[in-house]
Amino acid sequence: MKILHVDSSISGESSLSKDLSAIAVTHLRSIYPHAEVLYRDLVEAPINHMTGPIFAGFGGHWGGEFDAATQQEHRLSEQLVGEFLASTILVIGAPMYNFSISTQLKAWLDRIAQQGRTFNYTENGTVGLASGKCVIVVSACGGFYSHGSMMQMDFQEPYLRGFFKFLGITDIRFVRAEGALKGELERSEGIRVAKAALSRVY
Ligand SMILES: Cc1cc2nc3c(=O)[nH]c(=O)nc-3n(C[C@H](O)[C@H](O)[C@H](O)COP(=O)(O)O)c2cc1C
Repeated sequence: MKILHVDSSISGESSLSKDLSAIAVTHLRSIYPHAEVLYRDLVEAPINHMTGPIFAGFGGHWGGEFDAATQQEHRLSEQLVGEFLASTILVIGAPMYNFSISTQLKAWLDRIAQQGRTFNYTENGTVGLASGKCVIVVSACGGFYSHGSMMQMDFQEPYLRGFFKFLGITDIRFVRAEGALKGELERSEGIRVAKAALSRVY
């Protein structure tokens, strides 16, 4: 059983989503002590943004017409989609930036959404090819989006749910630490709620 742990915060050691995603992985390790955990910090080791030549390599179309740097990108795309497909559980640390996800996380998503590998177009519409996995998203945000006037500005949870559903994954679990920038009391309450949710997330 393989667990893929992905972090995507720019805040280094002070990142809340990183702290909490690590707690999620510790929890999973207590359930599956023999699980193999692969860790990717998408800020420490960033993935280049999608480009035409990188996209052209999807589906194994690598070859001499691409320069060495692009061929290296094609190998990375293959490695990333392979890691994703090989994992049974994904834990994603997702800071909310500008009502959505970090650009680093988006760059990773762009590499794993590959026609023929993780989804296909059929006569009956699109079919996800990555079914059977569980995705645990650990989200941290400065404000509040699960209730109140900002609810409609949450483009993070609906986007990630929609994205992974498109790839065929139906078991998508969200843990949110909200109010991180609203004051000490709100921040610690948000962390308390998130930690309680993490203890029963799986
Ligand atoms: C570039 C940037 C954009 C942000 N945008 C939002 C936002 O749209 N909504 C929000 O509630 N908080 C926003 N925040 C606050 C973060 O969501 C908050 O600091 C959270 O703790 C980030 O997770 P992290 O600590 O793991 O980095 C933003 C922070 C940064 C640095």
